[in-house]
Amino acid sequence: MDPNPPVAELAPEDVAYFQRGTWENPRFWNRLGGQPDLQGKKVLDLGCGHGRLCIDMAQAGAARVVGVDLNERLIRFAQQNLQLNYPELAERVAFYCIDIAHLDEGDFDLMTSKDTFEHVMDLPAVLAEMHKRLKPGGRLYAAIGPLWNSPFGDHDTIKRLIGINLPWAHLIVPDHLVLRATARRIGRPLHSYRDLGLNMLAFRDYKRILYNAGFEVEFFRPNCSRHPVVRVFSLLRHLPLVGEYFVNNLYCILRKPI
Ligand SMILES: C[S@@+](CC[C@H](N)C(=O)[O-])C[C@H]1O[C@@H](n2cnc3c(N)ncnc32)[C@H](O)[C@@H]1O
Repeated sequence: MDPNPPVAELAPEDVAYFQRGTWENPRFWNRLGGQPDLQGKKVLDLGCGHGRLCIDMAQAGAARVVGVDLNERLIRFAQQNLQLNYPELAERVAFYCIDIAHLDEGDFDLMTSKDTFEHVMDLPAVLAEMHKRLKPGGRLYAAIGPLWNSPFGDHDTIKRLIGINLPWAHLIVPDHLVLRATARRIGRPLHSYRDLGLNMLAFRDYKRILYNAGFEVEFFRPNCSRHPVVRVFSLLRHLPLVGEYFVNNLYCILRKPI
């Protein structure tokens, strides 16, 4: 991908999504115990999307910020937005449409990944690549969700078909019905929800994967939210057998041992 594409007009829907970071990013950090000191740090954001968290981290003093994502359109937006609206940060921020396995850069002090791990198809492999590129003692801050078994774990797939959000419908309605209708809607064949970018991992899968990725787990908190329903979920998630269905999101801090 051309690292300096011609600057074009930014699509309003992309700008609107980028602006959601104004409230989403402070919430991300708050739920993880506060934004760490980023002054002079070299940071990586995996699944950077439109790039707002990268911009915020550069504005908070990070010396170098790398955002990686597999979506070419989003990376093009992030690059153009950087050139157009944040030229003063352009020396310190880089966006790449690349699989982290091919990223030719390491020694990061800190990593972030916000609302992305539920879309990563081979999470153990990606965590191994992140681990490799993180300095000993460096931390990975991650927010994951909504999780597949949570009420809206299909990320609105069914809502886009019927117009309303029915909790847990994706676990009840046979997959082939949803996938057939969605394939017609988007005009490409679908064999699994994975073809829509959802890895379908359950809470217990994340727990196993995150605790076995070679990091020290410093912080691991399901159901981070002040929403009253999620607060009730925090009680229900301890129920035997069905607790899994009441884990909406997961926030964690992983530290690479020294
Ligand atoms: C829901 S978006 C979140 C984007 C951004 N972090 C935010 O909070 O707005 C998830 C992003 O993860 C990206 N993604 C999925 N798998 C990835 C992978 N293996 N490596 C990098 N990015 C990935 C997708 O392309 C998508 O842009």
